[in-house]
Amino acid sequence: MTVLVTGGAGYLGSHTCIELLNADFNVVVLDNLSNSNIESLNRVSKITNKSLHFIEGDIRDRDILQKIFTENDIKIVIHFAGLKAVGESCEVPLNYFDNNVYGSIVLFQEMEKAGIKKMVFSSSATVYGEPEKLPLTEDMQLSATNPYGRSKLMIEDICRDLEVSDSIIKNNCPWAITLLRYFNPVGAHESGLIGEDPNGIPNNLMPFISQVAVGKIKQLKVFGGDYDTVDGTGVRDYIHVVDLARGHVKAVQALENNLKGVTAINLGTGNGKSVLQLVKAFEQQNNKQIPYEIVGRRAGDVAACFASAERAQSILGWKAELDVNAMVKDTWRWQSNNPDGYC
Ligand code: NAD
Ligand code: WQD
Repeated sequence: MTVLVTGGAGYLGSHTCIELLNADFNVVVLDNLSNSNIESLNRVSKITNKSLHFIEGDIRDRDILQKIFTENDIKIVIHFAGLKAVGESCEVPLNYFDNNVYGSIVLFQEMEKAGIKKMVFSSSATVYGEPEKLPLTEDMQLSATNPYGRSKLMIEDICRDLEVSDSIIKNNCPWAITLLRYFNPVGAHESGLIGEDPNGIPNNLMPFISQVAVGKIKQLKVFGGDYDTVDGTGVRDYIHVVDLARGHVKAVQALENNLKGVTAINLGTGNGKSVLQLVKAFEQQNNKQIPYEIVGRRAGDVAACFASAERAQSILGWKAELDVNAMVKDTWRWQSNNPDGYC
């Protein structure tokens, strides 16, 4: 069975390619390399001892999509391609709506023309906005607090409208879409060959910690020490990227086995960890000191956010298996072996 992975050269996509190849899927990757390096896919082949088909191109390019769908017997698309930096999305919102929303529309139109209507979409816990209650369950109210989050919510809404259209125009090939809402993916493949390679100063906590550990940044700034949490610092549901990748294989298999309609599923562990708990785990497991200072809260941050992981277990038969110690150890193996990322 052949799967098209858009954005497959990126952080989550490259780890997912490994799990797909290990599960004997044929993999075609479409990526414009706007936030990734082709070396990630060379290493995927090295790790798996298998090859995949890479096409450099943009999801907004209809000609490329038509060529891919004509030349390959694609049955399912995993759609990772997108821009993902919350702060940047506030500065250049049109880029985010163009790349993420318009790009998804072009992809869905070309999929529909080619008769391919099974998809796994990279959504995010950001679609829950300010959590009304914890843990977050998939049926809770959705909202967006920034253009990035709004782009994810818009694409989710488009998918739900496609399901409505199927109920009006009955045809024998309805859409089947799984919206995977990721919590906070961290870690790296245990080989230390692939991992997260952010451009410039990292926005997210784990790559920031590992760049402090490797000496590229002097000190971690902990945003807020006065939240109503276990130690006053923000709590998140960190999920190992390899668990997340395996969740995609389960989602693809569920679609192969005829999961119908549009289904939103959280990919998280169900447990929250504070910033300082993550820092302590990193220090202990890797024998590295992480100097930090507690500063003011970051605008837009919530105190705590963690998933209910029950639906993933009941629908996909998936649950996260790798703990926080594996997350920090694997992050450090990747960062210390590749201090400058893929360069
Ligand atoms: P990433 O930037 O490492 O990967 C995205 C990939 O998509 C990159 O390789 C980039 O070059 C490619 N891309 C971007 N726009 C494209 C386009 N128009 N055409 C073709 N390729 C394009 O990001 P990631 O962390 O791997 O995230 C993957 C997806 O998961 C994104 O959609 C992101 O919004 C979503 N997500 C990520 C996180 C996270 O914390 N990493 C959390 C929730 C959701
Ligand atoms: C985690 C915790 C920070 C950096 C973001 C996106 C979300 C999703 C995942 C894509 C918070 C604290 C961070 C630092 C810190 N991405 N922190 N110092 O904000 O939960 O989620 O990535 O969909 O949409 O918003 O992740 O890693 O930025 O922050 O103290 O230098 O670490 O305040 O409590 P976040 P994060």
